[in-house]
Amino acid sequence: MTQFKRHTVTAALPYANGPLHIGHIAGAYLPADTYVRYLRLNREDVVFVCGSDEYGAAITIRAKKEGITPRQIIDKYHSINKNAFERFGISFDIYHRTSEPIHTETSQAFFLKLHEQGLFEVQESEQYYDEKAQQFLADRYIMGTCPKCDNPKAYGDQCEKCGSSLSPLELKNPISTLTGTTPVLRNTKHWYLPMHQFEPWLREWIVNEKQNQWKPNVYGQCKSWIEQGLQSRSMTRDLDWGVPVPLPEAAGKVLYVWLDAPIGYISATKEWAKNNGKNWEDYWKSPDTKLVHFIGKDNIVFHCIIFPILLKAHGEFILPTDVPANEFLNLEGDKISTSRNWAVWLDEYMDSFPDRTDELRYVLTSISPENGDSEFTWRDYQARVNNELVAVLGNFVNRVWVLMHKYFEGKLQGSGTIDFTDETLRQATVETYDVLQKSLSSYKFKNGLNAVMDLARAGNKYLTDGEPWKKFGSEPQKTAEILNNCVVLTAHLAVCMQPYLPTTAAKLFRLLQMPQTTYCWDEPLVLQAGHQLAQPQLLFQKIEDAEIDQQIQKLEKTKLTQSPAAPLKEQITYEDFTKLDIRVATVLACEKVPKAKKLLQLTLDTGIDQRTVISGIAEYFEPESLVGKQVLLLANLAPREMRGIVSEGMILSAQDRDGRLVLVGPNDTVISGSQVS
Ligand code: 2FM
Ligand code: ZN
Repeated sequence: MTQFKRHTVTAALPYANGPLHIGHIAGAYLPADTYVRYLRLNREDVVFVCGSDEYGAAITIRAKKEGITPRQIIDKYHSINKNAFERFGISFDIYHRTSEPIHTETSQAFFLKLHEQGLFEVQESEQYYDEKAQQFLADRYIMGTCPKCDNPKAYGDQCEKCGSSLSPLELKNPISTLTGTTPVLRNTKHWYLPMHQFEPWLREWIVNEKQNQWKPNVYGQCKSWIEQGLQSRSMTRDLDWGVPVPLPEAAGKVLYVWLDAPIGYISATKEWAKNNGKNWEDYWKSPDTKLVHFIGKDNIVFHCIIFPILLKAHGEFILPTDVPANEFLNLEGDKISTSRNWAVWLDEYMDSFPDRTDELRYVLTSISPENGDSEFTWRDYQARVNNELVAVLGNFVNRVWVLMHKYFEGKLQGSGTIDFTDETLRQATVETYDVLQKSLSSYKFKNGLNAVMDLARAGNKYLTDGEPWKKFGSEPQKTAEILNNCVVLTAHLAVCMQPYLPTTAAKLFRLLQMPQTTYCWDEPLVLQAGHQLAQPQLLFQKIEDAEIDQQIQKLEKTKLTQSPAAPLKEQITYEDFTKLDIRVATVLACEKVPKAKKLLQLTLDTGIDQRTVISGIAEYFEPESLVGKQVLLLANLAPREMRGIVSEGMILSAQDRDGRLVLVGPNDTVISGSQVS
């Protein structure tokens, strides 16, 4: 196997048009950060780059909708996301932006080189043009009826109802979402990447070479793309937001966002190198550099096929050695969705739990969608923190510290350097390092984390079986030996957990009163007899039900506010409406119906009579609070008997944002019996 001299690690550049959620984190950023921390502990030369992806139609659409500029949007989310990553401890060497001049230059130079080599096919084609807005329309700006399922709200690139991939020309009754007008077809020129020309090379490079190297989900997706046959893809767009195409005949056109975004990794590296006295080319052009892209599964084709074609065609760049893409993370039984606000947002998590970064890192790695989609639930989060981090890891360290202070004032006993005297513990530790190295270098992050937790379990068992508290009276040396062994184990645990739980590892090094906050894998952990430990301090706090209930309620609220309004009913005539006798009534008396949790019995003044109405609103109102209120009554509803009481009509109500019922009534006091028409 090739020995690499250095590593370029990238994490997908998030679009700067919205905040990050835990699905993004579990998909790309956390595994990338864990991997990079592992490399650094191996003293590898590594650069870890990321940044905001600031172009693309999605950003311009949002800006238009909100009546602001794309720049306002990207500035806002660039800073929110950069900040959330920092607070969460994602250790990028640089978090760059694709709107920086260095990126414009880099992607334009890249495009020009390909253009000069005659790579692109220039083609004229008919595309939709909005005459009112005077611009060509990106696929997402066009809506129409899906030719496959008749959904009237399909987009130019996709129907979200039936999932079909579409082209704008296939839509029936297309409408420009910019102006609501019908777009016309106009000729426009674009620069296409002839992907089919690279098919033989891709077969060699991916289908043959990567079969046993790339994760099966990644390899499988690439293979099926290649086997379906690759078509030319346009690398330019008629838009006013993006990197301008650097050709005089392409005025008003920009580079396709999926061309410039991955080049963003290169421009970020350039900027980092400039600021750190490095040569960026070492990290992108030297065959002894290992390039690894961390992404979610929706980005596979761009990173495994399109970007490598561009790198290969350019000729000077290395290709990705690995693209360990993850699958998706679901939330409480449903797909995470930005538009439905069904997500746990990273910045909100950090606001609610500023001291619980490692808890989230732990849970997201434990449930990482490494090989298939997986699921986050708040109850599971609580259970994993309480039953694993608190009860296993935290508990072990705490027991050791309390006992060390109880018997030995927190000082290591014996003489000289303190190391394991227990072979089983030593062996378990050596094996853990071994499993960790193997797992982390092959992106099996869950596996490595399990090994660390198993080592903590071994520590707990050793302590429980050793019963040092029973031995102190008769064999104080035995007590000291057991506890010394436990302390040595905690130091190794701290080293092992660094890629996963960096904050906790640093905390444990502080408890150990060791001089550094991080230790490389090969650094000797020297503890001398007489070494003083800090006072006991809990590594993790138990999470109470109330905190979790609050988070669940927050999500439930989302569901209610997002629940679609009831569909429109069948059309009726005015005559149909006049059949309804809706009138204003005043509540004269109100009481609970005995033995019926939901029912209230109301006595109403209807202007023409006094009558009794039974209503299923008892969960939402105290009976006395309704007396004197004016409500709307459907007065000519056929009488109905409930719980032995005849109800003569129905009072009208609606749901508020939280799903609670509110009564519908006149805004001003009117006379009872006044008709609603
Ligand atoms: O899917 C996304 O969020 C894209 N913005 C990812 C881009 S990755 C890279 F190519 F920059
Ligand atoms: Zn459809």
